Amino acid sequence: MTQTQGSLVRQITDYAHRADPYPIYAELRKTPVAHDEEGPYIVSTYWEIHGLLHDPRLSSDARNLDPQAASELPEEDDPGLPPSFLKLDPPEHDRLRRLATAPFGPPHTPRRLHEMRGELSRIVGELIDGFEGRDRIDLVDHFSYPFPVTVICRLLGVPREDEPRFHAWADTLATSLDPDPDADAAERWRITRQARTELATYLSELIEERRRAPGDDMLSILVGGEGPEGRMSRMELLSTAALLLVAGHETTVNLITNGMLTLLRNPDVLTRLRKDPHLVVPLVEELLRFDPPVQMLPQRTPLSEIDIAGVTIPRGASVWLLLASGNRDPQRFPDPDRFDPQRRDNQHLGFGSGIHSCFGAPLARLEAQIALTELARRLDGPRLLEDPPTYRRNAVLRGPRHLPLAFEELRPNRSANRSTNQSANRSTDRSTNRSTNRSANQSTNRSANGSPNGSPNGSR
Ligand code: HEM
Repeated sequence: MTQTQGSLVRQITDYAHRADPYPIYAELRKTPVAHDEEGPYIVSTYWEIHGLLHDPRLSSDARNLDPQAASELPEEDDPGLPPSFLKLDPPEHDRLRRLATAPFGPPHTPRRLHEMRGELSRIVGELIDGFEGRDRIDLVDHFSYPFPVTVICRLLGVPREDEPRFHAWADTLATSLDPDPDADAAERWRITRQARTELATYLSELIEERRRAPGDDMLSILVGGEGPEGRMSRMELLSTAALLLVAGHETTVNLITNGMLTLLRNPDVLTRLRKDPHLVVPLVEELLRFDPPVQMLPQRTPLSEIDIAGVTIPRGASVWLLLASGNRDPQRFPDPDRFDPQRRDNQHLGFGSGIHSCFGAPLARLEAQIALTELARRLDGPRLLEDPPTYRRNAVLRGPRHLPLAFEELRPNRSANRSTNQSANRSTDRSTNRSTNRSANQSTNRSANGSPNGSPNGSR
């Protein structure tokens, strides 16, 4: 099907649909592969998206786009920061992904995430302690935003005092992924390029520092690592470090925020989670299906013609894969618009699929599980103050810019109580516990981001 000029892209990116893009996706699924006359091929059904994500003829490398499709993308011929493995095809993609995996997970570093669990819980506890004395917060500014940035900086070995600088760079790079047809492209490319250059300069210095004085962080191991496949070149290290910092940033922010929004709209599920914290594992999977932080992958291109769903996609065309639409496809998921944390057979597309499927998925899952369990446990009587909330402009990495919510009381922080006052922890008197907690907070509040109320410094 050929649509009127630009109509599909405009519908998908139209900010008016940001709070609820799902009716548009339902319309799109009537034509599984649709061609926007001037622009991309839009793929909106589960099996077609899944098939293409596993098809070696579909490239992630923008250099394979034909000149017309390429002219619609930001220039990335940036000598300071070459394309990361997210945007490369095999064999380069596979080699770099394997090298990046060595310091992150099994088989070489099987305990890395397990060992971070305590620290993740502590950061979450401290950020929630920062709500003490308030009865309303903005979940994004006070919690969802500072948490993942702190975590990814610690994982990579970025010094704490430099964390705020990443807020600004990561925001700019996340915004550059948004294919907003109304944005001032030239201005956006200039700002993006500047952020990439600054980030590259900063990371170059950090890499040199880690070479001189290695720690046990991921960057140190990547810098020093020498396996059968050799090590990353300096440029490969730069682009991989930048990818890890940016890829794990806004995505996780949105998973936690979308998660809390969905729980507050489904109070029965929130109550169940409070009673049974194990529910959080399938609940996070259902969130990744129901309201995924990465709504679409707008940058793929066929290396040769691909016939799919009665359409021939020519070599070099731009292909958009609407993951969030595939996740609501009734041909794949029964009753797809229902949020059901006990859904079986939940092979969602929230982390993509195939060779580029999310590298950070185990970390993102753990962060969201700890965050949502603790928010559910510690906030008494939480309620939304704005529904729908105000969304960011970005249609690709979609999520609320703010999530104002109110609560009646803050329950004690178990981990802070354990370490600061064991007798208070044993007490069943909630008021005793609350005051103990308050004093614990005073020492721990200057937490993850160095700000007393947990509010980040970065602009976004
Ligand atoms: C809820 C949080 C997250 C979501 C929803 C998410 C989603 C995704 C998706 C959909 C892809 C596939 C991209 C494609 O096929 O082009 C991807 C790839 C990737 N993600 Fe994530 N991500 C999240 C968190 C993270 C974190 C925390 C990290 C870093 C530790 C990370 C690192 C990566 C990397 C490096 C890739 C590229 C993989 C490759 O090209 O082989 N992500 N992610």
